[in-house]
Amino acid sequence: MSPLRKPIIVGNWKLNKTIKEAINLVTQLKRLLADMDVVDMVVCPPFTAISDLSEVLMESNIRLGAQDLYWEEKGAFTGEVSGSLLKEAGAEFVVIGHSERRQFFHETNETVNKKTKAALRNGLCPITCVGELLAERESGKTFQVIENQLKGSFAGFSPAEMKQVIVAYEPVWAIGTGKVASPAQAQEAHAFIRRKLAETFGQETANGLRIQYGGSVKADNIADLMREADIDGALVGGASLDAQSFADIVRNAALVAVK
Ligand code: 13P
Repeated sequence: MSPLRKPIIVGNWKLNKTIKEAINLVTQLKRLLADMDVVDMVVCPPFTAISDLSEVLMESNIRLGAQDLYWEEKGAFTGEVSGSLLKEAGAEFVVIGHSERRQFFHETNETVNKKTKAALRNGLCPITCVGELLAERESGKTFQVIENQLKGSFAGFSPAEMKQVIVAYEPVWAIGTGKVASPAQAQEAHAFIRRKLAETFGQETANGLRIQYGGSVKADNIADLMREADIDGALVGGASLDAQSFADIVRNAALVAVK
């Protein structure tokens, strides 16, 4: 991390937690993290819990995000949720193009581009995900894959728009596998992402951009990751489902941040 950028730790709860469980979890987080101000904290519950959590989190330092959105505002799009509805429910952030959406729901760089634009249009902060598959890494295509994802996902963006985006680097082979990327591997990818975005959007935009790492982040590996110059936070899956474990991740990230 760099003093230029405030660290941000986001819990992506995926398809977990009933409304009651979600309220219980954030109630504990509020207590455990009430004094935390050097790290931005966000939780992304399933759609059904957003509205209730926005009441529980009112005036709290923990903010709310969604896990996806659709780019149209309204109409005959059965099953979809728009940015304005998320905003109304209390979300300020939205995860876009997570590898699970790319793998299981056929998202492409084009849909990720439309969704990221829709988030900005609605005043939501997009957390747009990129990352390579194991086979791509093993065949030496990691950087080519990431470059294509960046090009497609942010095609047509202005530097002013890009400044409002958070990028998450999530190597697919590290998600839910317990196989965290080494700090050096993650840093290499993050530095590459920042360099590529600097080429398109200018150095100033790239310097201010927060890039999160995601994939088997836990309380015992976050500090080493955060010590790397281009790692500005984490997108946490499994370890965000337990209040103590998420709070420990935030605290260990904060220890690096205040150094
Ligand atoms: P895990 O932390 O469970 O590996 O998940 C990472 C992730 O996909 C966060 O979006």
